[in-house]
Amino acid sequence: MNFWKQFQPSFTILAPMEGVTDIAFRQVIAKAARPDIFFTEFTNVNSYISEKGRTNALERFRIEETERPIVPQIWGTKPEMFAETAKALKEMGFPAVDINMGCPDRHVVATGGGSGLIRTPELAKEIIRTAKTAGLPVSVKTRLGYSCVDEWGDWLTTILKAEPAALTIHLRTKKEMSKVAAHYELIPDILALKNAISPETVLIINGDIERPADTQKYIDMGVDGIMIGRGVFHNPFCFEKEPREHGREELIDLMRYHLDLYEKYELSPYDPLKHFYKIYINNFPGASEIRDRLMHTKSIPEAREVLAEL
Ligand SMILES: Cc1cc2nc3c(=O)[nH]c(=O)nc-3n(C[C@H](O)[C@H](O)[C@H](O)COP(=O)(O)O)c2cc1C
Repeated sequence: MNFWKQFQPSFTILAPMEGVTDIAFRQVIAKAARPDIFFTEFTNVNSYISEKGRTNALERFRIEETERPIVPQIWGTKPEMFAETAKALKEMGFPAVDINMGCPDRHVVATGGGSGLIRTPELAKEIIRTAKTAGLPVSVKTRLGYSCVDEWGDWLTTILKAEPAALTIHLRTKKEMSKVAAHYELIPDILALKNAISPETVLIINGDIERPADTQKYIDMGVDGIMIGRGVFHNPFCFEKEPREHGREELIDLMRYHLDLYEKYELSPYDPLKHFYKIYINNFPGASEIRDRLMHTKSIPEAREVLAEL
């Protein structure tokens, strides 16, 4: 069975976020309230192919059984490297592979990868076709266009003609970054296009979603899945099937769990971990003072000491 067709009547995904959704944070979300599917952070196919980069790439494909189903995301520009990486991912036991065609980071775009592929549609199509030869269902995550929203029709037609197993659309252009509201008004037209060109492609929408319940009307229209990224920063329990209030203790326990996992997987350095503290230490009297103290810590044991005083 096509991996993407098993989640009925709809499904949720934790968006891939570089520097955020690593093995530790994915497990934090799995403990809080898991989505139906996880994605890994994106990994460059050049790294996987080169002997020098492989250790780093393999680190990004490290998962725990509890995270399954999880889809690895890859990026790059050389079709044959996608095929080779996808073949290795299949051997590692992943059920599918996703290709990033939406990243706006200037270093990524400068190589022609990520959203840079929107400007080379023939290459984008070739990458999908070649990646498919590895035998895994190949999906694409992209944006509406590069500079202008009107590009969406031509760009998505190109992608859909390559018949990806699933297509995630962050409903903005590359140029819009995350600065304007996502273009939800286009969903009926996008669905019509998809059904005309590649009806079997599973459609996933993304951009500014805070709670799965808010998107029911798009599911009713025919969208198959929703993907939430930054919404987990505001509420790590956002994938809860029956949402409820979560108190300070629960959030602090979740932070303790995150600290334990960061240590367990020997992730480093310490400072990037501090970006997460706002998720847990928020919205209660004295939270900003505690956060301030946590920002001055230099190690996980020091952060634990601050929490122990609470
Ligand atoms: C810190 C950060 C890192 C991201 N890294 C990736 C990535 O590795 N791959 C990808 O496809 N998108 C990446 N994105 C984009 C998100 O997956 C998502 O498309 C975007 O944040 C919009 O969804 P949201 O409004 O639910 O956050 C990243 C976004 C953020 C904020």
